[in-house]
Amino acid sequence: MKKRVYIKTFGCQMNENDTEKMYILLSDEYEPTSNPEEADLILINTCSVREKPQFKAFSEVGRYKYLKKKKPDLIIGVTGCVAQQEGEKLIQRLPYIDLVLGTQGFYFIKEALETLKKNKKPVVFTELKPDFKPPLILDKENKLSLENKKVTAYVTIMQGCDNFCSYCIVPYVRGREISRNPEDILKEVKELVKNGVREVTLLGQNVNSYGIKEKNYPDFPELLNMISQIENLWRIRFTTSHPKDLSDKLIKVIAENPKVCKHIHLPLQAGSNKILKKMNRKYTKEEYLEKVEKLKDAVPDIAITTDIIVGFPGESEEDFKETLEMLEKVRYHEIFSFKYSDRPFTLAQKLENKIPEEEKERRLKIVHQIQAKITKEIYESYVGKEVEVLVEGPSAKDPNMLMGRTTTNVIVNFNTPRLDLKGALVKVLIKEAGKHSLKGEYLETLKL
Ligand code: 5AD
Ligand code: SF4
Repeated sequence: MKKRVYIKTFGCQMNENDTEKMYILLSDEYEPTSNPEEADLILINTCSVREKPQFKAFSEVGRYKYLKKKKPDLIIGVTGCVAQQEGEKLIQRLPYIDLVLGTQGFYFIKEALETLKKNKKPVVFTELKPDFKPPLILDKENKLSLENKKVTAYVTIMQGCDNFCSYCIVPYVRGREISRNPEDILKEVKELVKNGVREVTLLGQNVNSYGIKEKNYPDFPELLNMISQIENLWRIRFTTSHPKDLSDKLIKVIAENPKVCKHIHLPLQAGSNKILKKMNRKYTKEEYLEKVEKLKDAVPDIAITTDIIVGFPGESEEDFKETLEMLEKVRYHEIFSFKYSDRPFTLAQKLENKIPEEEKERRLKIVHQIQAKITKEIYESYVGKEVEVLVEGPSAKDPNMLMGRTTTNVIVNFNTPRLDLKGALVKVLIKEAGKHSLKGEYLETLKL
């Protein structure tokens, strides 16, 4: 009988993708379980982008101490950004941990388990190599989704970041920007499509700079066109786009390639040029708006989403108001907004004029209120329209309904006479707008 592995994932889509890779790497020896109590191996894949997820990761690890007492053979590992950030220190702080695998180290999980077995002492892999070549990991026998066929999947196309925005820990915990080779990416997407996937989301800290550091690689718009030639792949999404590197060439591909979804996540972070400069974002609000106009001209129905940080050190009331003005000007479909959080290694951590917690809280609430109104208006504009939806499975709200997304990445729950449409592209008439989703009625199946 196979042993069992439980992985708890925090943080971004890239962490989710790394978790999937660990499941595949371990699949000869371990099968996944959703119950940590019955696991032989527990991994906590952590995030350190802000203090809150880092804190959550620590308390999650702490939760398994008692299990280890009951079951001394249980192996507990910490992976991801907190593992990378803390390294050896984690073992000193939490001596019941067996493995600490960083953001490149997790690829060697099998070797780490072997070493642990041999040496019977904790194993720490936290080296970050600037010339690291992420290995190709394919779920050849589709072991992971035998029962639960996946319709959408993530594909990491690059790791790390070279931008050093002053608030951000990512360049320190994920290392220098490395683009994966295009052959591996194509092989991975083809394998997923063979296993039933119809939509891929290409992941990278800044996909717009894909391939730039390598001599013979395509650039990102070219990569999108190459991937779009894969038969039976219907949709391609990507995230994240750094506004400074958003090119006309990419805008043209979004406009012209029918498989590329009409959605872009374009993190603004702040609306004041003074704060943008302190953040080291390398664009002004005017330049950002110019790119937004170009996008809207080329792709009139495009959905734009963004990330906002409130309360960056030195952010005055006027600076903050400029962020609010940007929300009104761009009219994002959705935003992800955060209170500024001091991170180790970063430049912003050393800045003066930190904003008090209650003030950050107040600003965040205002951002939420303004955006809720805008999202509501945009969602209401879908009512009465017919949209294409890729069906991902039953609706979480009602098992008699199905759920999928529009090309603009809006969640649609819909009534349907047929519930066996997972993986189909269907036409839905939108009847109602909710806060974070739309409700509609099935009209017809376009592709199966
Ligand atoms: N404080 C608050 N938010 C942060 N982000 C990154 N670093 C910080 C920080 N120190 C946010 C940014 C980024 C998103 C993934 O997380 O908005 O785009
Ligand atoms: Fe962090 Fe900036 Fe890199 Fe994004 S682009 S990961 S915010 S340093």
